[in-house]
Amino acid sequence: MNKEMKEWEEKKGIKFLKRIGIKPGHKILDFGARVGHYSIPAAVVAENTGKVYALDKNNDSLNELKRKAKKQKLENISLIKTKGNFETGLKKNSVDIALAYDILHLINNRKKLYKEIFRVLQKNGLFSVYPKHNKLDQPQKNLKNLSPKDIIKEIENHNFFFQKEYCGLISHDDFLNKGCVLNFKKKDFKEV
Ligand SMILES: C[S@@+](CC[C@H](N)C(=O)[O-])C[C@H]1O[C@@H](n2cnc3c(N)ncnc32)[C@H](O)[C@@H]1O
Repeated sequence: MNKEMKEWEEKKGIKFLKRIGIKPGHKILDFGARVGHYSIPAAVVAENTGKVYALDKNNDSLNELKRKAKKQKLENISLIKTKGNFETGLKKNSVDIALAYDILHLINNRKKLYKEIFRVLQKNGLFSVYPKHNKLDQPQKNLKNLSPKDIIKEIENHNFFFQKEYCGLISHDDFLNKGCVLNFKKKDFKEV
């Protein structure tokens, strides 16, 4: 791992994930975790009372994530290897935060992803999205014609409401870049 990413996983990523709302004790689903540039700092923030479910369809990536977690003695990461479908195997309302970072462009049937995230999130849960490769940021594949505003609309049409945007120097592939994540809440939540 390069120096920039080491510093991200050990310091900057921890700070960023606290800012977006991750807290000790949280259960976090990292959908499309790859080698854990977000799962690892999320596990540090969640502490031993919390847990990170690092989901990916790529075995090699998950093995690398496992190796890093072991090296750092992080015992609160569970790996979920899928076939690329959207079944997480997690219980309904069992997760506090779901991350979909730099993955939406790779998914054409995003409806299925949103549905599963809605199902596993607890009612006050947070859905955090990094829509890299949208129309305004190195456009690629399934997001190339959608702006961040279009993506907000799309997700709001799937039972979430947009809460807040967090921008900064954040992890993308194996480097840091300027980017913004979008936080959503489930629509059925009513503050009392
Ligand atoms: C560009 S990487 C982003 C990794 C990580 N979220 C990050 O931001 O550093 C996308 C990851 O999503 C995984 N992926 C893509 N489609 C998937 C699917 N349908 N189910 C599970 N994982 C998927 C890929 O294997 C890859 O590891």
